[in-house]
Amino acid sequence: MHRREDPIVTVQQHIKEQQNLHAPHATGEFSWLLSGITLATKMIQAKVRRAGLTDIVGTAGMVNVQGESQQKLDVYANLVLLHCLGVRDCVGILASEENEDAVLLKRSPGIGKYAVVFDPLDGSSNIDVNVSVGTIFSILRRKDPHLESGTDEVLQAGSEQVAAGYVLYGSSTVMVYTSGNGVHMFTLDPSIGAFVLSEEHLNMPHQGQYYSVNEAYRDAFPDEYRHYLQMLRRGEIGNKRYASRYIGSLVSDFHRTLLKGGVFLYPPTASHHHGKLRLLYEANPIAMLAEQAGGAATNGETRILDIVPNSVHQRTPLVVGSRVEMGAFEECRRRVRAGELLASSLAD
Ligand code: AHG
Ligand code: MN
Ligand code: MN
Repeated sequence: MHRREDPIVTVQQHIKEQQNLHAPHATGEFSWLLSGITLATKMIQAKVRRAGLTDIVGTAGMVNVQGESQQKLDVYANLVLLHCLGVRDCVGILASEENEDAVLLKRSPGIGKYAVVFDPLDGSSNIDVNVSVGTIFSILRRKDPHLESGTDEVLQAGSEQVAAGYVLYGSSTVMVYTSGNGVHMFTLDPSIGAFVLSEEHLNMPHQGQYYSVNEAYRDAFPDEYRHYLQMLRRGEIGNKRYASRYIGSLVSDFHRTLLKGGVFLYPPTASHHHGKLRLLYEANPIAMLAEQAGGAATNGETRILDIVPNSVHQRTPLVVGSRVEMGAFEECRRRVRAGELLASSLAD
């Protein structure tokens, strides 16, 4: 990770520089698309910062396609992203956690080559209590702009993502993104209203000191996860005694993992047999960022980015983190499958 000497590099300037380096014939459409995300997330952060002053906290009285109660800010964030991205010609498809089906935008032939999939507001249970929330996005190139169904076109493996990232509305507003050439972080300077480069080419530490999981559900975790957590607690991984941190906003929990190393897990649970997190707009973008920063992400069986989705809102277990912790997870899983680690050796 390194900092530049330049006094200020905005996200737009950085994207342009990256394109000059890696895609000198780029048309500029991709940076126009990303400016839709920066505009929308600036609008969302402005609303988040005023939560409590305006009538924006609390539920919207509706339930989304996942059967989850929508918060007013979920609805607002979704509308803002749909609008800011929908007016950009290069965007042909939009898919959101808050909409049942992907939206196919009618564009002239050959226009609208990108699809954007997003979680408009992640961690919405934390809004009312002033804890960090975020927005997660994944950008895909449409396979066949003549298809009549947007849904079919967003069902691509995560390895096909053109770019991915998130914006975290924390003590400051931070944008982290990758377009396949490293992970870069920008901080919103509220005095000028621009995202300014904080770190480029972020690398996750090889090992961290925190594990992050909702331990209240641990009795129902499959054995490999229970053994793994026991090893972390007992200091059996890299001779390190781990502490735990769990915020309950994936964006926040992952951001800490990206900067400090460690591991985040959302295993299958009693209520969510296939995990709770959504593959297309939570696990995939997070997995791309993790890999680009030198980490890894799995669903417990398969590399996240290799999974070919079969529905927009498909859920997945997720284990994501630094190289040492991820290697130890794979080894633990192998030993459980080989019968070398038995359930009888698990403490309560
Ligand atoms: P969302 O607010 O977009 O529905 O996502 C919430 C997710 C994720 O951010 C977090 O990691 C997880 O839910 C927390 O779930 P638990 O409360 O079950 O731990
Ligand atoms: Mn979410
Ligand atoms: Mn959400």
